[in-house]
Amino acid sequence: MKSVKVYATHKFDFKTEKIASDKSISHRSVMFAMLAEGESTIKNFLRAEDTLNSLEIVKNLGAKVVDNGEVITISSSGIKESENILDCGNSGTGIRLFCGLLSSAKGHFVLTGDEYLRRRPMKRVTAPLRNIGAKLDGRNDGDLAPLSIRGSSLKAFNYESKIASAQVKSAMILAALRSDGICTYSEPELSRDHTERMLKGMGADIKVDGLKTTITPLTKLLSPLDIRIPADPSSAFFFAVAAAITPDSSITLQGVTLNKTRIEAFKALERMGADIRYELTDDKYEPIGDITVRYAPLKAITVEDNISWLIDELPALSIAFACAEGVSVIKNAEELRVKESDRISTVVEGLRACGIEVDEVQDGYSVTGGELRSATINSHGDHRIAMSFIIAGLRCGMDVQDIDCINTSFPNFFELLQNLTRIELS
Ligand code: S3P
Repeated sequence: MKSVKVYATHKFDFKTEKIASDKSISHRSVMFAMLAEGESTIKNFLRAEDTLNSLEIVKNLGAKVVDNGEVITISSSGIKESENILDCGNSGTGIRLFCGLLSSAKGHFVLTGDEYLRRRPMKRVTAPLRNIGAKLDGRNDGDLAPLSIRGSSLKAFNYESKIASAQVKSAMILAALRSDGICTYSEPELSRDHTERMLKGMGADIKVDGLKTTITPLTKLLSPLDIRIPADPSSAFFFAVAAAITPDSSITLQGVTLNKTRIEAFKALERMGADIRYELTDDKYEPIGDITVRYAPLKAITVEDNISWLIDELPALSIAFACAEGVSVIKNAEELRVKESDRISTVVEGLRACGIEVDEVQDGYSVTGGELRSATINSHGDHRIAMSFIIAGLRCGMDVQDIDCINTSFPNFFELLQNLTRIELS
């Protein structure tokens, strides 16, 4: 269990094209390649623990994978039963999307994950899938992994989800593609839409009308994917906050997806006063471009809408709240409690350890901006908690413990961070 000592820094001006590739799109690229006829080509795949687990699972399901270190090609002749347990590691996206993909596949499959994932709720996907005929089970009546799936035929559905979750939506879209009729899926607020964009790009008949998605089952295999995965805005955001809280600093983050369902945290930082510019450079499956963030004094804001568009960035945004003038508030964010850790508790605990006044409620918290103080922070095995408090350390110095989890999403995080400050890993 490694730890890091971060030293406070002074102004920097940094530009990088090396932000980790998008995790959501990387998972989906290898899964969706299983639905295509011919060879899919994936460039800039995220080589982090979570997504490498998905790649390994796809191999276990019979896909032919060739990886020359730069480009991954995947061809599949249908999903095959695996003699191995399929291990999703720390990834909620991995396990929930595979539930949707495997519910209609011929055979028996077992999905599991690490100690953290085995504590996270799975009913949100297993219940609606069971309702359309999937044979899925797990501990606590199908709520906890390990999950076992016996693929079966699935009925068409009209499902109204109570939560805005791209994982649930994607699992249901994957199930719909192989169901026996036209399906509709509605959500209370638009969640990230990579699944719809990518599958449509591969030829699937998916229509999006506001919050309602209509999916027609496949009559033939899809066209192969040919994708270069953009940088992950959720990973880029740690460095955006670094520039936003360090006087006279600026940072340019290149090749990031500018999908509106993913850059809401940058918009929030802009509302706080940071100077942020977006430059579109490409547009295939997703708009992609460069984001430049320049320091400016920050003021408090309230975040209560489109929560699913910035849910992963709330821990890092909270570090900016701690450095802003006034009281910032997060509401409607109870989903934070079922992420890699209970992120309401872990953020509140961490900020209080740094001397910041925080009030916790069930669906969020408020942060009174002040003077961050150096502290020792436990990540609770949550990569985004670890990286958020490491970034806080740029202001005041910080010891952060249990940092191996950063490898689940951003293996070169420290290599980049070294351009901004001094660190000691132990
Ligand atoms: C993800 C969806 C979100 C997000 C997660 C990745 C995805 O989860 O928090 O990190 O790739 O679909 P929910 O769908 O549970 O909100």
